[in-house]
Amino acid sequence: HALPSSIDLKVLLQPDLPLIEVDAGQLQMVLLNLLFNARDAINGHGRISLTVDVVELFGEVEGLKGSFVRFEVEDNGAGIPTEVLPRIFEPFFTTKPFGKGTGLGLSQVYGFARQSGGAICVDSEPGRGTCMRLYLPMYQDQTDSPLDR
Ligand SMILES: Nc1ncnc2c1ncn2[C@@H]1O[C@H](COP(=O)(O)OP(=O)(O)OP(=O)(O)O)[C@@H](O)[C@H]1O
Ligand SMILES: [Mg+2]
Repeated sequence: HALPSSIDLKVLLQPDLPLIEVDAGQLQMVLLNLLFNARDAINGHGRISLTVDVVELFGEVEGLKGSFVRFEVEDNGAGIPTEVLPRIFEPFFTTKPFGKGTGLGLSQVYGFARQSGGAICVDSEPGRGTCMRLYLPMYQDQTDSPLDR
């Protein structure tokens, strides 16, 4: 409901997604932050997709290993200039006009990802769009040892 009708949102959820153990309110806030950034990058008509699936990591993303739920927010908006890219996760870094952005959205996403044992990655091409990938570890039931079965 926070997106204008000029933006087409596609949500693709892999069936039977596993559990994750995170603060639900924080996850909701973080996903909204990513969606609002995607919205703000689109001038006029555009597309945003939210894709959620499971991936196996072998250290290629911030050294993480194991099963992760991946939340991918992709837009076909303005993209991020190469000179801006290294700064986007800094607190209070914003390119938005005064009163529009505080520059705290992505630093919160970064903090949440870290604190949850996951990671956030960005892939962007100026003029074509941006893809943000949030990885959160799949919940491992500590009590479920083979001896209990
Ligand atoms: N999807 C995106 N497309 C283009 N630029 C982006 C995207 N996401 C983030 N950015 C850039 O990164 C900057 C920092 O983002 P961040 O979410 O931290 O702050 P903000 O959106 O400017 O303000 P706030 O989130 O506090 O309202 C943005 O100002 C923008 O320049
Ligand atoms: Mg933001």
